[in-house]
Amino acid sequence: MDELTLTIDGREIKARKGQTIIEAAREAGIYIPYLCWHPTLKAFGACRMCVVEVERMRGTPASCTTGVMDGMVVTTKGRTIDGIRHNIMDMILSEHPHGCLTCPRVDHCGPQDMCLRHANVVDRCVLCPQNERCELQDVVYHLQMKDSDLPYEYRHVPLDSSNPFIDHDMNLCIVCGRCVRACNEIEAANAITFIERGDRTLIGTSLGGSLSDSGCTFCGACVDVCPVGAITEKDHKWSGAPEKSVTTICSHCSVGCQLELLVKKGSVVRSIADLSGPVNEGNSCARGKFGYKYIHSNDRIHSPYVRKNGELVEATWDEALDLIAARLSGNRGPAFGAVASPRATNEENYLLQKFTRAVMGSNNIDHPDSTCDADAVSALGETLGVGAMTNGFRELRDSGCILVYGSDLTWDHPVAAIQVKEAVNRGATLIVVDPAETELSLMAAHWLRHRPGTGINVMAGLAKAILDEGLEDQEFIDGQTEGIDALKDAVDGRSVQQFTESAGVNRDTLLEAARAYAGADSAAILFSTSRSIEPGAAIARSAANLALLTGNLGKGSAGVNPLRSDANSQGVTDMGCSPSLLPGHVALADGADTLGKAWGADLPSSAGLNLQQMIDGAGNNALKSMFFSLETQREIPGIDPQSLSSLDFLVVHDLFFSDIARAADVVLPAPSTAEKDGTFTNAERRVQRVNKVVERIGDSRTLDEVIAGLASRMGASGFEFDSPAQVMEEISSLVPAYGGISYDRLGVVGLQWPCPDSSHPGTPVLHADGIARGKGLLSVFETGPHSADADPDYPFTVLGAVLREIKGVVDLEGRARAAINPADARSADISAGDEIEVVTRSGVLEAVAEVADSVPNGFIQLSIPHTDTMVQSLNRPPSAAVPRTGARAKLSKLAPVVG
Ligand code: FES
Repeated sequence: MDELTLTIDGREIKARKGQTIIEAAREAGIYIPYLCWHPTLKAFGACRMCVVEVERMRGTPASCTTGVMDGMVVTTKGRTIDGIRHNIMDMILSEHPHGCLTCPRVDHCGPQDMCLRHANVVDRCVLCPQNERCELQDVVYHLQMKDSDLPYEYRHVPLDSSNPFIDHDMNLCIVCGRCVRACNEIEAANAITFIERGDRTLIGTSLGGSLSDSGCTFCGACVDVCPVGAITEKDHKWSGAPEKSVTTICSHCSVGCQLELLVKKGSVVRSIADLSGPVNEGNSCARGKFGYKYIHSNDRIHSPYVRKNGELVEATWDEALDLIAARLSGNRGPAFGAVASPRATNEENYLLQKFTRAVMGSNNIDHPDSTCDADAVSALGETLGVGAMTNGFRELRDSGCILVYGSDLTWDHPVAAIQVKEAVNRGATLIVVDPAETELSLMAAHWLRHRPGTGINVMAGLAKAILDEGLEDQEFIDGQTEGIDALKDAVDGRSVQQFTESAGVNRDTLLEAARAYAGADSAAILFSTSRSIEPGAAIARSAANLALLTGNLGKGSAGVNPLRSDANSQGVTDMGCSPSLLPGHVALADGADTLGKAWGADLPSSAGLNLQQMIDGAGNNALKSMFFSLETQREIPGIDPQSLSSLDFLVVHDLFFSDIARAADVVLPAPSTAEKDGTFTNAERRVQRVNKVVERIGDSRTLDEVIAGLASRMGASGFEFDSPAQVMEEISSLVPAYGGISYDRLGVVGLQWPCPDSSHPGTPVLHADGIARGKGLLSVFETGPHSADADPDYPFTVLGAVLREIKGVVDLEGRARAAINPADARSADISAGDEIEVVTRSGVLEAVAEVADSVPNGFIQLSIPHTDTMVQSLNRPPSAAVPRTGARAKLSKLAPVVG
């Protein structure tokens, strides 16, 4: 029996087996004071503030560590309990500034008033950054304490303000240990710990240095769980209690974390991971926690600009839209191209592709997604029937084995990495296939560190080992796949040893990995293509092969899961921002007629140009005009804005002046995610509500509004919507997988597509009723080595040009880092810390040299700080200088600046 009944303070309540008393009481709306307990952490039982009395149980057990039992009778208050709590609080307050807590004049006192009780400015609640949101205050008020019996002693610990995000004031610490546990349990970073012993115990970094040096990832979990003002955000530290809080979706990556954005005086002043977020459940990363400053950046574009006499000058919206409509009206057809944003909402992207196809008569629409390329996603569609993650992020924690291919997950998708770390803590086997060292590779049971370009050989070797050792799931293969004979033929002539030798991987390690993957009850594969030289389609097909051979599809905690880069990378393809696929991933040939009828337009039937082809087309005059929706993308790695200079007409809709915007004829100000309503679809196919948090900055307009304004000026109908909710109604009427999705139904946890009708609960696991394609296709694919085109003038290959905004103080200083192997460093006469140039055919990137064994010979591992407006005032390298993975490069040392 999972449900049981107990009585708390005379009230009968229901609880679930496995809950503690405090959890059951909270769910029933009964308050038990606590300090060291936190809903996201394991119970600690240290402070004893949560003590209760339980009939037929000795003493006063802590309610945070005592499990509920059927028929239990609990009392949460009374003389004994109150006495214990007062004594505990007396001891806490003897070391915690509490002048205001016990001052009879507290309601009359402001921060500027002279306090005669304590002269020290940090000694009063009204001057504490946590004032009005302090859990210690709440407990003191609950206990109605008017004074404290013990003398107060100030600790005189200097404030640690040495990093840009988090302040430590250990004079306020109550040593509840929440921060230490959060750092360990949530982030597995162990960057902070208890230091000293006995009554001198406090919190500090593991190695005694700065947070940056300690391995802190700046996820902010310690800040969110600190009950007092000991660990606080530096920004808006003194802003006090917020005026409102709005839950919305993080705009930084495809995990889809829910965040509570706290607002004061019209500005976002704090971001807290939402406990009810279905994916993150109270976790976030540095980007989610601190990456909201861009919303109120002074660099935001506040009004439209049009180019006059060669200069971009401010204009009215009517002026800008009239000009765009006039120019585009004369240029309908395949000479027009549009670039959608994986950071714009589903509704905006749907309308942009509808406008491109139905009004402009062009299928030239695409989007930049730097983490998982379109080839990989469509290859997955060809092999399984759906090009998306088969399973969800939260399921990973229960996987028996996880294989991570080509992803630096802890930096690219940190909250997903938390699930992987938790699975490892629960006993899962972690396999990492990556030529370069990552945080997860160091935790992995099997790190298959292959030579760059040979990852497919590793995957083929795993498939071969599974077949050789008879580890395949024959029943699954017989019933749910096709192509096994061709696959066997393809690998028959080669031994596991040949695959491992060609990849430079130890044979025994690969065999153990194959046994672990095939032997697990449920094994999941996560893959990204952004750091790999191997073709994305081959990565996807080889991953699907492993899952199909072992029956790891259609069940929880398993599957094949492509990682996407941006908050709406999945949604932008779902909405049809693709040159060959219509909304719902429908091929042009299959859906153009039907969609055309619904939209009342003749749609072009031949495939359009992808992004790279459009850029090339701009350069050779095949394309005459383009519309870029960038939404803080700011640049597209590897694409030189100069290549757009041949266009007759270029429009950019963005928050900031990117290099592409500076080349435009018209620039339109866009609102940030915090200023609009809509939906995002995260990588696990979960459609979630984006909610407006603050009023629009400047005179910005959403893409819906821009498209509506253009369509009406161009005489097109079908773009008159009152709200994004109405746009979603049209989407759900035309896209079967979104058929049951409406704003009313999305609620707190959203819905995972396919969700075909209004009574469907959504689909957390794909292929549960059989492979969507009918039979999963086991593919024969090209093994490597794959390599960038040889170019003697450019001897290095770029590996993972990741945009990392926060990795230690160096990136906080805003410098790009270029890491090379010690042997390469010696032959190029480059030392760690040297100022160097990374020269590619598309540009020059200045960087600081790093020398690391973790980088393979002949490769450069780049680490690029993120946009200045995202997090800090960081300098952004020119966009053309940010090379793609696989680009050829050479290095040159810059002469030191003298004087
Ligand atoms: Fe239960 Fe601290 S809250 S012991």
